[in-house]
Amino acid sequence: MGLPSKAGHSVRRPALQAFSAACHRQRSNGKDSKGNRGREREMTTMNAGRAGWAEALDRAARPLEEAWTLPPSAYTDPAVFELERERIFARSWIPVARHTQLAQPGDYVTLDLLGQPILVVHGEDGVIRALSALCLHRSAPVASGAGRRKLFTCPYHSWTYDTMGQLRRAPLMEGAKGFDAKACSLPVFQTEEWEGFILVNLDSQAPAFAPQVEGFRRHFEPFGMAGMKLVRTLDYDHGWNWKILVENFMEAYHHIGTHAGTLEPGHPAAQSHVPDSDGPWSILDMPASARAADGPPSLIPGLNPERASTLYAGALFPTFLLAMHGSGVIWYQMMPLSADRIELKINIMIPDYITDSELINHIAEEIALTTAAIHAEDIAINDTVWRGLNAPAARQGRLAPLEKAIWQFNNWWIDRINR
Ligand code: FES
Ligand SMILES: [Fe+2]
Repeated sequence: MGLPSKAGHSVRRPALQAFSAACHRQRSNGKDSKGNRGREREMTTMNAGRAGWAEALDRAARPLEEAWTLPPSAYTDPAVFELERERIFARSWIPVARHTQLAQPGDYVTLDLLGQPILVVHGEDGVIRALSALCLHRSAPVASGAGRRKLFTCPYHSWTYDTMGQLRRAPLMEGAKGFDAKACSLPVFQTEEWEGFILVNLDSQAPAFAPQVEGFRRHFEPFGMAGMKLVRTLDYDHGWNWKILVENFMEAYHHIGTHAGTLEPGHPAAQSHVPDSDGPWSILDMPASARAADGPPSLIPGLNPERASTLYAGALFPTFLLAMHGSGVIWYQMMPLSADRIELKINIMIPDYITDSELINHIAEEIALTTAAIHAEDIAINDTVWRGLNAPAARQGRLAPLEKAIWQFNNWWIDRINR
């Protein structure tokens, strides 16, 4: 896997220059697509005024052919991130593990979900729960990392909880009047298992996940995601807003630029397609070019050759990103930490009928190398986009028709942020 070739750049420049020139013409004469002089000159940041912010979001929510990107402050303003924390992350389904990571009683993983430490544990009673990891005494987290345990002992004063979150031991509390350890257990958040993923929602009133994403599940049914195992994880830490990754993930338009020498020859931008969506999700189909369609045989039983050679990206809003191909599924597990930082685990999953450890290693290594090379190209461009969005002259831009999935996401985001 190499860097974009010279030939790739020669394809890229005219297309982007023409696009950029059209944008500049539109801005310099101060008219939007409906000819309203001066609207684009108005303040568009949230801090610059409620009216400007509302107009910026209206432009982003126009029909696809007329739509604009979100305004730069939607990515860079910490106040917007606080709104997202309250209106999006605290109410959305977030994938936290594969069921294979929690297969036995006592298996657990921990995570920090936007400031809320969570312990996801397979209880002795067979139920997988997402517990608040905060000790009921003085709020120290009772667990970190991942593993298998029968009991969780708080490192501060040794209060001890079982795998169902029940307080089992609170030393030296005999003199505490009315204190009943048996009546104490860690608060439980909603969990749901979907296609082998364990998801958590901090909102006890949130509607179930599966019915909202049934159309998405049907599209990928032949991949048999539920029967896949996680074989390799690549860890990253990026200094961008989380929506930069979602947008970069959900359009193939940038194959002609960023991936001109890698993805564009096999999965041309112009052939990419985004089906309509009826829920909080988007799908990007990237069919193989004629010369790339005869790739290696698929590892997924029953997948027809056309689907096996197509590359797919899927986003389950807000942060659940999946890439599917003939060898398996890659789960981009993203955790926003602040307006300008995300933690990302790229998890490689392959069908679980493959049990030979040497073969698993070989497949995992090959997918990891390719994925890391493509991601390196994306990191480089996302770094520059992030610098651009933070520059004083950053403005809303026009969306390309090929960016339909970004438009779908933006509309979902605007709807949530306005609630
Ligand atoms: S904070 Fe956990 S035992 Fe004191
Ligand atoms: Fe990319």
